[in-house]
Amino acid sequence: MAKERWSSKLGIILAVAGSAIGLGNFLRFPVQAANNGGGAFMVPYFVAILLVGLPLMWIEWTIGRFGGGFGHSTAPGIFQTLWNKNKFIKYFGVIGIFGPILIFVYYIYIESWLLGYSVFAIMGKYNSCTNQEAMASFLHAYQGLIKNEFFSSIGPAYFFFLITFLINVGIICLGISKGIEKVCEYALPVLFVFAVILLIRVLTLGTPDALKPDNNVINGLGFMWNPDWSALKSAKVWVAATGQIFYTLSVGIGVILTYASYLKKQDDVALSGLSAAATNEFAEVIFGGSIVITAAFVFFGAAGTKAIASGGAFNLGFITMPLVLQKVAFGNIFGFLWFMLLFLAGVTSSISLAQPSVAFLEDEFNFTKKKASGIFAIVTFVLCQPVIFFLGRGVLDELDFWSVSVCLIVFATVEAILFAWVFGMEKAWAQLHVGSDIRIPKIYRFIIKYVTPMFLLGMMGFWFWQDWRDIISMKNVPAENRPYILATRLGLLALFGLLSYLVWHSWRKRSQKVMAGDAY
Ligand code: PFF
Repeated sequence: MAKERWSSKLGIILAVAGSAIGLGNFLRFPVQAANNGGGAFMVPYFVAILLVGLPLMWIEWTIGRFGGGFGHSTAPGIFQTLWNKNKFIKYFGVIGIFGPILIFVYYIYIESWLLGYSVFAIMGKYNSCTNQEAMASFLHAYQGLIKNEFFSSIGPAYFFFLITFLINVGIICLGISKGIEKVCEYALPVLFVFAVILLIRVLTLGTPDALKPDNNVINGLGFMWNPDWSALKSAKVWVAATGQIFYTLSVGIGVILTYASYLKKQDDVALSGLSAAATNEFAEVIFGGSIVITAAFVFFGAAGTKAIASGGAFNLGFITMPLVLQKVAFGNIFGFLWFMLLFLAGVTSSISLAQPSVAFLEDEFNFTKKKASGIFAIVTFVLCQPVIFFLGRGVLDELDFWSVSVCLIVFATVEAILFAWVFGMEKAWAQLHVGSDIRIPKIYRFIIKYVTPMFLLGMMGFWFWQDWRDIISMKNVPAENRPYILATRLGLLALFGLLSYLVWHSWRKRSQKVMAGDAY
């Protein structure tokens, strides 16, 4: 089977930017920044971009393109090509399929709420909810956690989930250039236009309540951006900033390297990787950093916004924003733009999470795209069910924890060490510059070799020592939820085992073929 390819350089940059620009930019970032020092958060944030974000971006583009040259689009095969002699390294690569599946399974459900809410916004379905409690109960009834006059079952949520799921599988089925690339080519510009409209609307809100002159746009921007320098002394703030960089750039989980494997040998990776990262940062800092928190501040003031931000990203996106947008003229249309913006950002991210599993089945088992997508659809559809029906039991948060806080850090550490130390910095640097449109500053040779791996190892060590006992013993899980969390963990273990078995099986088949003298 001829290898699939991107049809243009802009195409892959938009696809990677599409993966990176997601709910993380518009909801997670503002909450993290507001809760971790405001403007001062940007210091560890930029340090993390320079020392781990960009290096990982370049590493994944480079090893992806390299592995693609050997017919491998996913981490098990790519890791194996980087370290030919080691038989076990491919099992670390399993994380690069497993992690994206976990994120996909919960991310797509949240994505489907956005589709639902964009329809509700236009219909004016939540117009009668005029305060936080009412809007929260609308959301909880939609999620099937309670029943009220708006929703008496989880049916509508399930309906939007099905549509969202089909959209994703459909795009994946169409392939790299006709599916993913085409969708990102249209979705990203539309998303930017929506974001600009919303940003202008928020920045022109002025002082809507004459009785509360302090609740205005300037103070709202100040709330978000004025630095609290003392925050820099807290390790928690540094960990939060680094975590946000991983999440927002989609690095460290096996997704970008899969996209890069569809490049040609001489295609640039240095400038393209940088451009995709820069596009994401623009969307995150400018749009993510100015829309939601400012809007919340103008209507709820400093104390209210603090409470909202500490309530997390969902509160901000699904409760506060619809309330705020209802208070302006044409609120239903702005509400639609807001949820559609997030939905598009979500779709371009979730398709990137699906691609590694599909590519794995195509490459290592020679399945057709249709068959591989079909298997992926069946498996993930089943895995989504506990997320949907046991939302109140913490299943979604559990998946988020294992994928983002564990898999991501482990995978990033392994790939950084593999690249700089096993593959070797000489070869690594040369590969990074094959066909490149820019020369990366020399200092990055040092950073990629020493600083990035040390940073990652340090973070992983700090993390595990601090928390592993509480995690294993489920200390922070309410007693009534423990059976569900335990079942989730066992399920995850089984899935990891199954994927490892598939890797073992496909390599055994291959070595048998080689022994039998098959042309390969
Ligand atoms: N970068 C996405 C966001 O900011 O929402 C989330 C994400 C997508 C993380 C794909 C990881 C990934 F592989």
